Amino acid sequence: MSRYGPNEHDILIIGGGGAGLRAAIAAVETNPKLSVAVISKVYPMRSHTVSAEGGAAAVIKPNDNIDLHAYDTISGGDWLCDQDAVEAFVKEAPEEMLQLEHWGCPWSRQEDGKIAVRPFGGMKIERTWFAADKTGFHMLHTLFQTTLKYDTIHRYDEWFVTKLLVDDGRCQGAIALELATGKIEAISAKAVILCTGGCGRVFPFTTNANIKNGDGMALAYRAGVPLKDMEFVQYHPTGLPFTGILITEAARAEGGYLLNKDGYRYLQDYDLGKPEPKPVLRSMELGPRDRLSQAFVKEMEKGRTLVGPYGHYVHLDLRHLGKEVINTKLPFVRELCLKYENIDPVKEMIPVRPVVHYMMGGIHTDIHGATPLPGLYAAGEVACVSINGANRLGSNSLTECLVFGARAGKAAAQFASGQNDPSPAVALLVLDEERRIENQFFGNGKRNEHIALLRSEMHKAMEESAGIYRNEASLKKSADVIRNLQERLQNISLSDHSFTFNTELIAAIELSYMLDVAETIIQSALKRTESRGSHQRTDYQKRDDQKFLAHSLAYEVEHDPPRIEYQPVAITRWQPGERVYGR
Ligand code: FUM
Repeated sequence: MSRYGPNEHDILIIGGGGAGLRAAIAAVETNPKLSVAVISKVYPMRSHTVSAEGGAAAVIKPNDNIDLHAYDTISGGDWLCDQDAVEAFVKEAPEEMLQLEHWGCPWSRQEDGKIAVRPFGGMKIERTWFAADKTGFHMLHTLFQTTLKYDTIHRYDEWFVTKLLVDDGRCQGAIALELATGKIEAISAKAVILCTGGCGRVFPFTTNANIKNGDGMALAYRAGVPLKDMEFVQYHPTGLPFTGILITEAARAEGGYLLNKDGYRYLQDYDLGKPEPKPVLRSMELGPRDRLSQAFVKEMEKGRTLVGPYGHYVHLDLRHLGKEVINTKLPFVRELCLKYENIDPVKEMIPVRPVVHYMMGGIHTDIHGATPLPGLYAAGEVACVSINGANRLGSNSLTECLVFGARAGKAAAQFASGQNDPSPAVALLVLDEERRIENQFFGNGKRNEHIALLRSEMHKAMEESAGIYRNEASLKKSADVIRNLQERLQNISLSDHSFTFNTELIAAIELSYMLDVAETIIQSALKRTESRGSHQRTDYQKRDDQKFLAHSLAYEVEHDPPRIEYQPVAITRWQPGERVYGR
């Protein structure tokens, strides 16, 4: 007979994307006796990892080495990366990628059968592994099918987590709502790993799926864990203007040009970082994402962008690559353009604009994925280890899911193996949580606010103040707007009171998560009075290593904006210097 009751496990992993599934495999491989559960608000193959396109970085070619990968990452991150974390990352990256190969990931190949790599933004050497331009799909599929081999990995598909269970100073599981029935249950565990991805949906234009609402960040924050470096929000330079759908950097890696309204490759007019004389790699279009997005804004201010129904845009021109290259290396780009813009990139230029893509910040963890709360771990975009500093290099994040997913899974398994069973008292907390949800969303009161309106006011405030350029006045204004939205959220009116797939209730809880996270972004951005990487203050235009070679930590304060503290950056071998990139 099983020693586990219903909803009792050793490890609970929240999120079934790349980091979550990698963590699950690492946990059962570390201790095969453990019961590991993966809970996800969507079926795992629908996690956002599936939409990653361009590739995953890891040293593989003889002209490359892990120090070069580390240096590109650190300088690309504008010296805010923790260098001990980066060193672990670049060392374990190739092992993880080969492991995925052995599990069946169909990496694209050269003619001679060796792994093919492509250049990517900010990387001076070609080290981005890919599976055409559907890399995330193939990686997620490989991980998912590997988890199916283990009968100690259990799944809660389409369950939505509303609260972490914390008792006796440690995290002991979570409370979750089953979408199909509306029932709310406690799932106890000796260790919990948050792998819920980022929070791009806090902004109006984003490459992120609708599911990326900062759930895990807010859950940890409410449990007293700080959110680190939340002011660093990455814009990807090439999203489709209306939907925000990503047009992968691989399109530029294969030789695509960015052109302004006059057909001019405008990036040549901007400082994208100090060009590296050697090794020389590719074009200005592969400069770091923050600098490319900033150049777009400057180009717009000069009146040299185009204007369409969804605002300003420029053109991405792939026509010179020819049909064969587009069909073999960028088939998904062609498919997306045909389906969502009704244009064929073989013959026409693609309209693109910068869109929010990735959070460099997230839950504060150490290099094993452990948060300051015993028993709570985090990995992937939801976490800030930090290897991405002030600006992540393209293709480092899929690899980050593997390396730090595996690390967190292993560390959580070791922790759980030495713990007593969760206290029976935690299961009783479910009653309090049911009452809280009932009161907050269905209780008596004014009930005159609506999700869509609050969400669009949040979007406007975030876009206006915490976008590519920021300043004190607009950040302060948005800070007030977000605080006011937090109060108005208490009066939310829901028309759906049913239990079966109550997506309105889920959207309301997601909005509450987004507002918490939005507040940490604004307050962290307000306090960082310098410009670094993706955080560009028009009122403080210089990087200030004296004061801000430090990570911000945002702590929840009840009924108030977060308290911001700082922690020094870990420097091992690379003293802060100028940013460089290859061209
Ligand atoms: O453009 C891309 O394919 C994005 C890759 C990434 O964010 O790592």
